[in-house]
Amino acid sequence: MHTRTPLTLLKSLLCTAAIGALVASCAPLDKAAPPVATLTLPKKANLKQLEEGRQVYATSCTHCHGPARVDRHGSNDRWTQKIMPSMCVKSKLTAEQSVAVTAYVMAARKSLGAQ
Ligand code: HEC
Repeated sequence: MHTRTPLTLLKSLLCTAAIGALVASCAPLDKAAPPVATLTLPKKANLKQLEEGRQVYATSCTHCHGPARVDRHGSNDRWTQKIMPSMCVKSKLTAEQSVAVTAYVMAARKSLGAQ
């Protein structure tokens, strides 16, 4: 016979709350930094690097900017030569993290139609 003890009930309530919190916390991030799987990527894209870059974006860039969306304003040259180098320094990233987050941001911009 299957009985729902108060403990199992509590467990399932906690579980539902945890999943709810997870979904709620993912939504703004997906808007700010679209998941790699939703981007239009070139065939040779390094998916592992892009995933790492998205993580860096989510943890480091949003630290100051909040859940701000990867932006399409400005030219690609300005982003690769000016914005990303200075923001990677501001974020105190390692060289590897800087390369990864720049690759992610540029791929996301491309998907947004930036040039
Ligand atoms: C320590 C806080 C801080 C962090 C971390 C940070 N930024 Fe910034 N960001 C700023 C400030 C302050 C400005 C405006 C002044 C400036 O350009 O320095 C800015 C400006 C910008 C701009 C506008 C620049 C322009 O000229 O159009 C972009 C885009 C940007 N940040 C993206 C990023 C990205 C992407 C990251 C992660 C790699 C990041 N930021 C990390 C503080 C930060």
